[in-house]
Amino acid sequence: MAFIKNAWYVACWSGEVKPGEMFHRKLLNELVVFYRKEDGTAVALQDRCPHRFIPLHLGKLVGDAIECAYHGLTFDCSGTCVKNPHGDGKVPAAAKVRSYPVADKHGMLWIWMGSQAADRATIPNYDVLESKAGFATSRGYLHIQANYELMGENLLDLSHITYLHDGYLGSPEQVGAVQVLKEEGGKIHCNRWMPRISVPPIFDMVYRRDGKPVDMWTNMTWIPPSCFLLDSGVHEVDGEREDHGWYYGVHILTPESDKTTHYHFAAAMPPGTNMTPEEAAKFSALRRHAFEAQDKPIIDAQQAAIGDNDFWDMKPVLLSIDAGPVRMRRAIERMVREDAEAEAPVVPVKLIRPAPAPV
Ligand code: FES
Ligand SMILES: [Fe+2]
Repeated sequence: MAFIKNAWYVACWSGEVKPGEMFHRKLLNELVVFYRKEDGTAVALQDRCPHRFIPLHLGKLVGDAIECAYHGLTFDCSGTCVKNPHGDGKVPAAAKVRSYPVADKHGMLWIWMGSQAADRATIPNYDVLESKAGFATSRGYLHIQANYELMGENLLDLSHITYLHDGYLGSPEQVGAVQVLKEEGGKIHCNRWMPRISVPPIFDMVYRRDGKPVDMWTNMTWIPPSCFLLDSGVHEVDGEREDHGWYYGVHILTPESDKTTHYHFAAAMPPGTNMTPEEAAKFSALRRHAFEAQDKPIIDAQQAAIGDNDFWDMKPVLLSIDAGPVRMRRAIERMVREDAEAEAPVVPVKLIRPAPAPV
């Protein structure tokens, strides 16, 4: 399966790459090892020694370089072999590994795996996770046994909360919500407005505690290729957004392989939110429960049922709620084609020797 390579992806939470240690993960079907230089700057290298293909993370850090566990070739942070302890010590030209641009931003370590120039200014904006924004945050990670597009559809179309998350995030009157779809600068917004509904338990538990009906919104934005930002909340019927009663949900997908996905999620509660630490912990636990015990089993089972079939060849039934997901799929297909062209190696023109002229 082809992925969009020329894009920023979240590899892990920044804190997972600790000084003096290596962290490794498969991303977009490639094995990558991460570590920090002595000055704290993050490094990402292909996690496969070019000699006998041992994962480099099994070796050891020597200053800002990695020494391979098997025969001691040593690679610096640019992936160049800087030491061959054998024979005359000459370093073969092919003794190098790929290094990837990385950036620590918003508490996450971002990686760029394409061959085009990486521009840090294009990293999606998750300022709400920065402590200076004053939001209270919680973070989590799940490993999903499904392709990232299936998980992306789950996030972009939140009509499932009534069914899958009933009793937690959903309430029955959310069915038939007014859904507005907008495309803007490559992003897709899928906004749902649900007036006069019974308050979903998660909001009643942490904000209102009165059980009265509310107006609710879930505004989800897809930021290509696989980042999402949810603005969701409730206020009193016919009221207005207050300085509490809502939150930002950060949902970020990174393909691991064709059928597995790294899922990083976070919540950012506005400064006006008045929750005790116990309530905040309960809020995080409820969200995690919804993703882990409700979304994940469904999406994993969906992937298992699809198997190796092509999604469109299976002729999925399309409903009104699928408008956002279908647009996202079409945009990804287009981006994959464009990306493949950008990545295509330049094929040298073969010179064909003309046949000798007959005599
Ligand atoms: S496998 Fe790495 S040095 Fe031999
Ligand atoms: Fe869900």
